[in-house]
Amino acid sequence: MSTEVRSDSHTGAKTAGAQARPLEGKVVVVTGGNSGIGEGIVREAAAQGAKVVIDYVSRPEDTDAIIRDIEAAGGQAVGCEADVSKVADLRKLVDTAVETFGRLDVMVNNAGVEFGETVATLTEEKYDLLMAINLKGAVFGTKLAAEQMRSQGDGGVIINITSTHEDWPMPSDLAYCISKGGMRMLTRTAGVELGPDRIRVVGVGPGAINTPINADDTPEQTAALEAAIPLGYIGTTQEMGKVVCWAASDAASYVTATTVMADGGLMQKPGAV
Ligand SMILES: NC(=O)c1ccc[n+]([C@@H]2O[C@H](COP(=O)([O-])OP(=O)(O)OC[C@H]3O[C@@H](n4cnc5c(N)ncnc54)[C@H](O)[C@@H]3O)[C@@H](O)[C@H]2O)c1
Repeated sequence: MSTEVRSDSHTGAKTAGAQARPLEGKVVVVTGGNSGIGEGIVREAAAQGAKVVIDYVSRPEDTDAIIRDIEAAGGQAVGCEADVSKVADLRKLVDTAVETFGRLDVMVNNAGVEFGETVATLTEEKYDLLMAINLKGAVFGTKLAAEQMRSQGDGGVIINITSTHEDWPMPSDLAYCISKGGMRMLTRTAGVELGPDRIRVVGVGPGAINTPINADDTPEQTAALEAAIPLGYIGTTQEMGKVVCWAASDAASYVTATTVMADGGLMQKPGAV
């Protein structure tokens, strides 16, 4: 097999050869980065050579522990306390990337909450809070990242962590589904708008993943989910980190304005949930 390395004329992406660290030197911001899927993304991005800004709103000691691990492996990461529902805090995140590492290459809008309310039980207060974190946070995270990337002039990638529920109704979680449906259209609309600037916007839609967001699931609910997943198991945060880093890398250079579902086939199984 040839080990020749060629450059793609559109992207400059290398098409062969050693790609063990596809994010080498890239500056990546991950919101909600000190737990669950966000932590999986942070750790994988650092392992692939990225310099990472870890956003968090609680448990600073968890952020510190992740940074220690990354630095022990020879990588670079910095923590930044920022509430994604506040545009000023999102600006602080982008500024931290630029001030610490000189630029921003990849913005991952991952932070999210789930309250489990129906049409009957949803309150205005819970609706506003969920939308501010899940959807407004992603919208303005995209806007501010795009501004920075445009000023750099050499493209970038914005990843929105959506869900199977960007498409798939979950009757017990009305506002959550609406927020993920909104992120679906954010991804598509911003992807079209930012294409000429070579800024890709990609959704990654996890299925059922083993994280704190699902901590309240009963053993019966977990068993029913496992039975419904064609691959037969609940996904891991490491697997989500790998999908996101692929979407952020030059290997996905022609992927934009769409969502990559990472759900073990769950959505395609008739009557799964
Ligand atoms: N776990 C799953 O099965 C699953 C499936 C589909 C999609 N998702 C999505 O993945 C993302 C990560 O969720 P997770 O499962 O890792 O759970 P998680 O609870 O570990 O992660 C959510 C993160 O968001 C952070 N956060 C909450 N409010 C914030 C705010 N105002 N500002 C900044 N950060 C805030 C939390 O501190 C936490 O770190 C969410 O967007 C979630 O909707 C998860």
